[in-house]
Amino acid sequence: YPHRINIAIDGPAGAGKSTVARLVASELHYVYVDTGAMYRAVTFVAQSRGLQLNDSDSLASLASGLDISLLPGEGGQIVLADGKDVTGLIRSREVTAAVSLVSANAAVRSRMSELQRRMAAAKGVVMDGRDIGTHVLPDAELKVFLTASPRERASRRFLELGDKPAVTLDQLEGEIALRDRMDSEREIAPLRQAADALLIDSTGRSIAEIVDEIVSLGRTAAQAIAAREN
Ligand code: CDP
Ligand code: CDP
Repeated sequence: YPHRINIAIDGPAGAGKSTVARLVASELHYVYVDTGAMYRAVTFVAQSRGLQLNDSDSLASLASGLDISLLPGEGGQIVLADGKDVTGLIRSREVTAAVSLVSANAAVRSRMSELQRRMAAAKGVVMDGRDIGTHVLPDAELKVFLTASPRERASRRFLELGDKPAVTLDQLEGEIALRDRMDSEREIAPLRQAADALLIDSTGRSIAEIVDEIVSLGRTAAQAIAAREN
């Protein structure tokens, strides 16, 4: 496509953001950036160094020097924290339970936003998270706020746990609701639909349907900009 744009996809946990964003990026030959993985990586490093997660100063000093990078890999995206591969370590329940506390830290957010803006500077990025359309890329040419009912989001995550889940569906729904509340109520860059974002409710809709919708919105936006420039 003649004109490369940036696409921001925000929304609550389990809405389908990362699944959909990855597929949209691959159809458009864009780069996918999973910003949640970056906050998870910071959380993992903080925990493995035994930091007090409610001590904002020690989180700040960790964040200021920390380099988180994302690389394309065979089975998806590889996450590096100061060069060390942490991909397989950041989806644990322990990290998931603590990530909203770490991501509320001002210094952590400012460091991650800086890295994310750098990744999007050349355009042609599909970035998913909580504050991409509102803070990280306020000028993104397409912004989507992706949601689904709380029950459906919990069920989707429950299905991923396989045969012998360590939690019940109700517990999982409670954990997701708590994280969404912390993400929405924090002071800095809370989870919120940007004024110019398009709301897509994926409840009862397939992954392919949502991907097609966003790809076509992206192509339309790119063509409109190309036409304006010619
Ligand atoms: O995939 P899931 O919805 O479980 O979460 P994620 O996208 O991996 O994000 C994990 C956590 O990182 C969120 O609950 C937020 O606390 C934080 N996050 C954020 O604060 N800002 C972003 N742009 C992305 C994630
Ligand atoms: O990144 P986010 O937390 O928003 O959600 P995800 O991890 O991409 O998606 C959660 C689960 O929902 C995945 O297992 C997807 O396959 C599934 N999903 C779905 O069943 N229907 C959709 N329309 C979108 C995602």
